[in-house]
Amino acid sequence: MSRRYHERFRSGPWKRFARCALVLCTVACAALLLAACAGGQPDVLRPGGTGAEQIRTLALQITIILSAVLLTVWVLLAVVIIKGRHRPESKASQTRGNIGIEIVWTIIPAVIVTVLLILTVRTTLSIALPDPGAQFTAVGHQWWFEFDFPKEGFKTANEVYVPVDRPVSIDLKSTDVIHSFWVPQMGGKVDMNPGHVNHVRFVPIKTGTYLGECAEFCGMQHGRMRFLFVVTTAAEYSAWVHNQQQPARQPTGAEAVAGGQLIPTIACGGCHAIRGTAMKGTFGPDLTHFGGRRGIAAYSLLNTPQNLLAWLQDPQKVKPGCKMPLIPLPLLEQQQLVAYLEELK
Ligand code: CUA
Repeated sequence: MSRRYHERFRSGPWKRFARCALVLCTVACAALLLAACAGGQPDVLRPGGTGAEQIRTLALQITIILSAVLLTVWVLLAVVIIKGRHRPESKASQTRGNIGIEIVWTIIPAVIVTVLLILTVRTTLSIALPDPGAQFTAVGHQWWFEFDFPKEGFKTANEVYVPVDRPVSIDLKSTDVIHSFWVPQMGGKVDMNPGHVNHVRFVPIKTGTYLGECAEFCGMQHGRMRFLFVVTTAAEYSAWVHNQQQPARQPTGAEAVAGGQLIPTIACGGCHAIRGTAMKGTFGPDLTHFGGRRGIAAYSLLNTPQNLLAWLQDPQKVKPGCKMPLIPLPLLEQQQLVAYLEELK
């Protein structure tokens, strides 16, 4: 490189440009990293199931290959810019009809795309586990998830447990529009279609509580259609199943007892079921063990008495467009209902 070039680069606009580019690159990388690690969101780089693990491996392989392509292009570009820069003493030469170059730059991208294709197809095939028979069915509703355990004889909503290190097989259905079942740290998205049963299979490999969500736009509250996917030890799972199989427990506190007596007199049973009571509705979530769940309204809010009260007072305020109607009740009765529901562990 000529001395004049060095002098030009070391001072003036070039230096400022290089510095700006460096700062911009650093900020962009930091923003990407922060977005990936933002609290509360599922981190797909930390898989808890085999499907997500294979998808992460594929994503890393593709990132490495494409980064190498990008780096090569940048280096070649820099070489061309530096070597071919304007010099008063030289004239640009024209190149055309170079068959060798034409062949090389056709073959290289074809090879890269073929490698990406093989990696992707291999991963897709290995994610599709053999069918061990569905353990339960997940049903998409506007806008909540139902989990139906026909063999065990119970239904629950928006929170489901599975044992660690055992293959999970879930049948997926929908009662209204197309939803999509997605636990990002377990595996890929699978559509829940009305009138057609899909399946999702993976092996949970790490205990923990994972956020699941609907991944297909399904109407006004698509963004608040979430659930908790809890991976536990075999013993904890059996205890959870055993508890879910029990009918609703009898209320004990005075307020809860009053709430329990109140509930058959209002319209809740038209949509909700509480096993062991007269409430047998199937349109809304089964509330038999509502008090034991960590979220309400498809995990829109944490399950606290204050949040439940706010939800009962105006469901449309919490989840505009949701199918839960506002039932006007005096505050005392609302509080009694809250006390009763929170006791249904
Ligand atoms: Cu259900 Cu989006």
